[in-house]
Amino acid sequence: MSGGPSSSQTPWWRNAVIYQVYPRSWADADGDGIGDLPGITARLDHLAALGVDAVWLSPFYTSPQHDAGYDVADFRDVDPIFGTLEDADALVARAHDLGLRIVVDIVPNHTSNAHVWFQAALASPPGSPERARYLFREGRGEHGDQPPNNWQSMFGGPAWTRIAESDGTPGQWYLHLFDTSQPDLDWTNPEVHDELDDVLRFWLDRGVDGFRIDVAHGLVKAEGLPDGPAEFDSANEPTALQPMFDQPGVHDVYRRWRRLVEEYGVPGEDRDRILCAEAWVLPLESLAKYVRPDELHQSFNFAFLMTPWLPDDLRASIDEGLAAVAEVGAPQTWVLSNHDVVRHATRLGYPQQPGHLRIEGIGADDPQPDTALGLRRARAATALMLALPGSAYLYQGEELGLPEATQLPDEARQDPTWERSGHTSRGRDGCRVPIPWEADLPSYGFGPSGASWLPQPEAYRELAADRQDGVDGSTLELYRALLRLRRERGLGRGTLTWTDGYGPDVLALEIASDVGPTLVLTNLGPEPVPVPDHLEVAVVSGPLTADGAVPTDTTAWLLSGT
Ligand code: NOJ
Repeated sequence: MSGGPSSSQTPWWRNAVIYQVYPRSWADADGDGIGDLPGITARLDHLAALGVDAVWLSPFYTSPQHDAGYDVADFRDVDPIFGTLEDADALVARAHDLGLRIVVDIVPNHTSNAHVWFQAALASPPGSPERARYLFREGRGEHGDQPPNNWQSMFGGPAWTRIAESDGTPGQWYLHLFDTSQPDLDWTNPEVHDELDDVLRFWLDRGVDGFRIDVAHGLVKAEGLPDGPAEFDSANEPTALQPMFDQPGVHDVYRRWRRLVEEYGVPGEDRDRILCAEAWVLPLESLAKYVRPDELHQSFNFAFLMTPWLPDDLRASIDEGLAAVAEVGAPQTWVLSNHDVVRHATRLGYPQQPGHLRIEGIGADDPQPDTALGLRRARAATALMLALPGSAYLYQGEELGLPEATQLPDEARQDPTWERSGHTSRGRDGCRVPIPWEADLPSYGFGPSGASWLPQPEAYRELAADRQDGVDGSTLELYRALLRLRRERGLGRGTLTWTDGYGPDVLALEIASDVGPTLVLTNLGPEPVPVPDHLEVAVVSGPLTADGAVPTDTTAWLLSGT
């Protein structure tokens, strides 16, 4: 594997750039309109040329696809829509040949209701060992017809569903923090621990380099499953005030998992297998507990993702992010987009105000973003993020500058959020639209038949990869330049110092690494910022002004002239 100049001392994951592939939407080899593993394998060259270190694949396991694969029916097999286990092996092998590591998704909070365990639970009586793998409870009220507590599903509606017992009478309720089709596992049951250990080993033995852990903060629930607070402000209040999230016992799970993955490291070789938490946890000090030395390697910093494009907010977010992980000796894990949030090229195309950004889906009758402004800021935001110490995740299509599909017809929507919220939340389909590869082909080259499981906006044609390849100033070439220079300058393993003298609207940060200093200027104000005489622009997120200054909503990386 290739690494920066000091890669022998710095484990790869501490400054890696990891690219998220959402398998349904990246590349379709068999023409059914849904992306698949052979499609991914055939296009891995794109990622090698982009210059990322690793690829995270969202779930491709056997699944009825009620939540786009996050409802797993068999953790040890590939769903036919995505291919076969042999296709997964071929993908891992090809990635490794290209110097790319592979991180796969693990979904330990719940299974699909089609999983054999859940089917066995339904067929078994209350109190049976089969039921004890999940969270079955009696209902409240005289006839047990009220849910056992007041928890709500993350997709809307109650987090409990009542089953019919085998004699047809109304029976127990089971917990599902997400869709009805996603029953939560009971992590007080040792059998659940053993099973997930075994699943981790299954994929590690097939050669994967790590796991992104779905709902990592949700596995362990407060004892007795008490009611949660009636009102809760998830953007500001400590997550652990809710009985279903960030409970202390969850850390024991990750200590055990860390020991397990460490068995697969090779002493003297930079081959750590990693664990990355998807944990929507505040405050950042609580999130940092997930990356203590004996727990996980990484945990997405979603507070950064939700930070508005305002200088004081960004500076505070970066400072708080770095300080929180410094306490535990971990790197920070930066991210701006993923398959659950509105793409940052669109988020930043709205007026920005202090507080957290809205990250929920957008429909045709909602206010629409200023797409040119959004793209300009998104490029500047990525250039800022990729300069920061630590590791970073990119989401497929952001290297093409793709905006959210904000005008999808509602009848095309597939995210369960749309139905479960009673059509009040548009959900996440808008960031999951298939990738445009070749502008002049049907489905813009997504697949050979022209089919696409979600309709692609016309605006995606001009953003297709082939229209940007080799084109000076394109978003694709910008990402390639940023990733190349980030590696050359050792930015991910650098240290950050804020530099004064550029005014309150400019983020000016010097990143010092063993290769030397790099000055990063992000201009959020109206006035262009002149480049200091002794420095040269190495890469810039948009055009400079005629006299060579850094204009508004632009990030430049500056080096000492030679
Ligand atoms: C987080 C995943 O990223 C999301 O897509 C999924 O719906 C939920 N977890 C439930 O698995």
